[in-house]
Amino acid sequence: MDFIEALRAGVEHRRPTVEWLVPLLEAEGEQECLLLHAADRVRAQMVGEAVHLRGLIEFSNYCRRNCLYCGLRRHNDSLERYRLTREEIVETAIRAWRIGYKTVVLQSGEDFYFSTDLMADIICEIKSRTGLAITLSLGERDKSAYSAWRKAGADRYLLRIETTEEKIFREIHPDDDLYERKRGLFVLKGLGYQLGSGVMVGLPGQDALSLAKDVIWMHELGAEMVGIGPFIPHPQTPLRNEKGGTLEQALRLVAVLRLVFPYAHIPATTAMGVLDPLGREKALQAGANVMMPNITPTRVRPLYELYPNKICLDENADRCFDCATSRIISLNRTIGADCGHVIRQAAS
Ligand code: 5AD
Ligand code: SF4
Ligand code: FES
Repeated sequence: MDFIEALRAGVEHRRPTVEWLVPLLEAEGEQECLLLHAADRVRAQMVGEAVHLRGLIEFSNYCRRNCLYCGLRRHNDSLERYRLTREEIVETAIRAWRIGYKTVVLQSGEDFYFSTDLMADIICEIKSRTGLAITLSLGERDKSAYSAWRKAGADRYLLRIETTEEKIFREIHPDDDLYERKRGLFVLKGLGYQLGSGVMVGLPGQDALSLAKDVIWMHELGAEMVGIGPFIPHPQTPLRNEKGGTLEQALRLVAVLRLVFPYAHIPATTAMGVLDPLGREKALQAGANVMMPNITPTRVRPLYELYPNKICLDENADRCFDCATSRIISLNRTIGADCGHVIRQAAS
C-alpha cells in the first residue's frame, strides 16, 4: 500500500493491518509531516484540547528482574536502592491532590517488599483521604494481588508489553515470558482496570513490521491507554552499546496510535523529553493527550534511573506541575478538569 492510501486507512480508523501500518511507521520528510498533522487533527476531534496530568510517584527502585535495558535491573550493583515508607507515599499523594492533580500513578520496580496487603492498605488510604484516581505501575504480580488492589480502590493499571516480537522479548527479558506478560494484561482487563500498555521504540532487532504487530496486538487487547518511549541505552546495563530509539520514531508511533486508538489516553512521555527539550510538546502535537509530571520527593529522584539523563531531577512536585502546566498552555491546550477516566462507550 502506498503512503496516501495508508494514511486514508488510518484517518478512517480502519482495522489495523500491517499493510497500512508499516508505510506510516516508515514515513519520512513531507509524509511524516502529513502523518503527524493528521494525528493531531484526530486527537482534537476525538478527545479535544484537554491534556490530563497524572502525578508520578516512583516509590521504590528495588526490582527482582533483570531486564537487559533497564537501570533498575537487579544486577546493577552501582545503583543505590531506596524505598519510600507507607507514610511518605500517602503524604506525597496528598500533596499532589492539594497541588491540583486528579490522578496519581504509583510506580516501582517489581518489589515484593510491597506485599499485596501493604499495597492495598496504601491504595485504600490514598483513596479515602483524597478521592484521587489511582493508577498502578508495579510490574507483573499474581491475580490475587491485582484483584485485592482493584477492590482497595485502584482504577487503572499500566503494564507495557515492551515488544510482542518473541525473539526480542526473550533476549531482553532473561527472566520473563511473553506469554505470561500477555496473560497478565488480559487478567487485569478482566478485573475491570482501565488498562494501559505500550512499547519501547528502537530496541535492538526491532523494525516497522514488528512495531506494526505490537500495535495490532494492543488493539486486540483493547488497551485504553498506550504509553511509548524511545529506548535509551543505560551505561550500567548489557545494552549500553546499542543505538537506542529516536524521537522521530517515537513521534511516528504516537501518531499511528492516535489513528488506531482514536479515544485512547496517550502520554507525552518523559523519555521523549530526555531526547529533546521540546520532545513532550512535539508528542502533544502528534496525537498525545496526557502528561505525567514527576511528584517523587526530590532527594530520591536521581535513583529512579531507568535510563540516563532523566529530566526534572532537581525539581519538586510544585515546580513540575507549574512547568507542565505552562508547556501545555504554550500549545494553546487546556488542563484536564476532571480525573480523565478512559472513554469507554466510544472505545468499544
Ligand atoms: N529506555 C527507555 N525506557 C525504558 N524503560 C525501562 N528502561 C528503559 C530505557 N533504558 C521503560 C520500560 C518500562 C518503563 C517503566 O520504563 O518501557 O516499562
Ligand atoms: Fe524491573 Fe521494570 Fe526495570 Fe524490568 S523494566 S528491570 S521489571 S523496573
Ligand atoms: Fe519537571 Fe518541567 S516537568 S521541570
